[in-house]
Amino acid sequence: MNQNELKRLVGEKSVEWIKDGMIVGLGTGSTVRYMVDALGRRVVEEGLKITGVTTSNATAKQATELNIPLRSVDEVDHIDLVIDGADEISRDFQGIKGGGAALLFEKIVAVNSKKVLWIVDESKMVDKLGAFPLPVEVIPYGSQKLFERFEAKGLNPTFRKKEDGSLLLTDSDNYIIDLHLGQIDDPHSLADYLDKQVGVVEHGLFLDMVNDVIVGQQLGPVVLHA
Ligand code: A5P
Repeated sequence: MNQNELKRLVGEKSVEWIKDGMIVGLGTGSTVRYMVDALGRRVVEEGLKITGVTTSNATAKQATELNIPLRSVDEVDHIDLVIDGADEISRDFQGIKGGGAALLFEKIVAVNSKKVLWIVDESKMVDKLGAFPLPVEVIPYGSQKLFERFEAKGLNPTFRKKEDGSLLLTDSDNYIIDLHLGQIDDPHSLADYLDKQVGVVEHGLFLDMVNDVIVGQQLGPVVLHA
C-alpha cells in the first residue's frame, strides 16, 4: 500500500470509534478527509446521528457537503472525541501538527475533547520530533520582529508562503512561521519558550494530549494507547 492507501485505511477505520449521539471533533488534512468521507457515508447509510465540530474552513466545507450537522466549539457543552491527523508522533506520543496550517483550531478542539484520537500512516511515527518543520502561528503585526528573534536563537525560521509567493494566511488571518529544527531534544521546554513569546498565537507542539493513535501499516491498522 502506498501512503495514500494507508491514510485511507486509518481514516476509514477511525469512524468505528464514533457512536450514535456523539459530538465529534473533525480534524484537518488529507488523512482526515478520508475519515470525514467515511463518516458522511455512515450518516447516510446508517442514519447515524452525530454533531461535528470542525477545525478548519476546509473540513467545514467538506462536512457541510456531506450533510454532517455542525456546531462551533462554543455552541456545544462537550466534545466526546476528536479525530485528527498529525505530522509527526514520537515514541512517547508527543506530536507535531499544523502542516495544513490548522493548528490553532485543532488545538482548541483537542483541549476541549474528552478523548483525542490521531490517525496516521506509519511514516509519521518517529523516534524524536523535529525533522518535520514546527509550525508557529503568529499575528502579522510584529511578525518580522518575532522572525528575527527566532533567527537569533538558531531556530531556522521561514515564513510559510503560497505557491504565488505571497504569505500564507491561516483561517484566523495569521501567518505561519515554520521552524526547521532537525531534532527537538526537549519539546516541553521549547513549548514553554514559544508560549511566552508575545505575538505567538499557538504552536504545533501537541504535548501530552493524545489518548490513542491508529497507525496505518502494511499489515493493517494498529491501535496504540498513549
Ligand atoms: C493540519 O494543520 C495538520 O495538523 C494535519 O492534521 C496534519 O498536517 C496531517 O496532515 P495529513 O493527514 O494531510 O498528512
